[in-house]
Order: sequence, then structure tokens, then C-alpha cells
Amino acid sequence: MSDQSQVLDASARLLKAIDAGDWDAYAKLCDPGITCFEPEARGNLVAGMPFHKYYFDLPSSGTPRQSSIATPVVRLMGDVAVVCYVRLVQKLDAQGQPVTAAMEETRVWQKQSGEWKHVHFHRSPC
Ligand code: GLY
Repeated sequence: MSDQSQVLDASARLLKAIDAGDWDAYAKLCDPGITCFEPEARGNLVAGMPFHKYYFDLPSSGTPRQSSIATPVVRLMGDVAVVCYVRLVQKLDAQGQPVTAAMEETRVWQKQSGEWKHVHFHRSPC
């Protein structure tokens, strides 16, 4: 598998872990010092894993959720890769009707000892 395919595959597995609430799978893909900007952080740069674990520790809603990566662009720069795409999230609203949310995501990966680790991301609603 090419580096580009590996990074796209890692990105898809990351989103699958988030949708499934699978902390172990998520943590395995991330560098412990990961940084991010995301709506939940209210404009602050968050560093480390505990902020993210909070959401995985919440009780499951029990409703299905599925993310798709739309029109990804991958840029490789040595052992670093930047992946940009729109993430489509299918889920149920409060009335149980299916809805789709869209997020702009930029995710940065670094190859560490032969494995791609997630080191930074920026997530904004479209
Ligand atoms: N909120 C966790 C993530 O998007 O990676």
C-alpha cells in the first residue's frame, strides 16, 4: 500500500473509531501529544488525549452513526502527511430522523517507527 493510501486508510479508521466510540482504536492511531482546534474547544488549542477521552467515556446514545470522507486531498512531505476533506456524518436527530452533518477537516499525520500517527487536526462545521 502506498503512503498516500496508508494515510487515507488511517484517516478512515480514525473516523470509524470515533463513530463507534472505540477509545482503544482511536488512541492507537494518535500521538499522545496530539494538538487540535475543534468546535468543542471553543477557539482554544487543545493538546493531549484527555480532552478527547471525555467524549469516548460518555454513555453511548445507542444510535448508529457513520462518517464518509468526501473528496480527500493528501499531501506527503517526507514523514509528514496532511489530509484535507469534508466529513459527512450520518446520524439520527432527536425525532429519530436521519440527518447528515458536514465538517471541514484537516488532519496531520507523522510516520513514527513505520506507523502513521495522528499529530494534529482542525475541524470546522461547513
Ligand atoms: N474529536 C476527535 C477527533 O475529531 O479526532
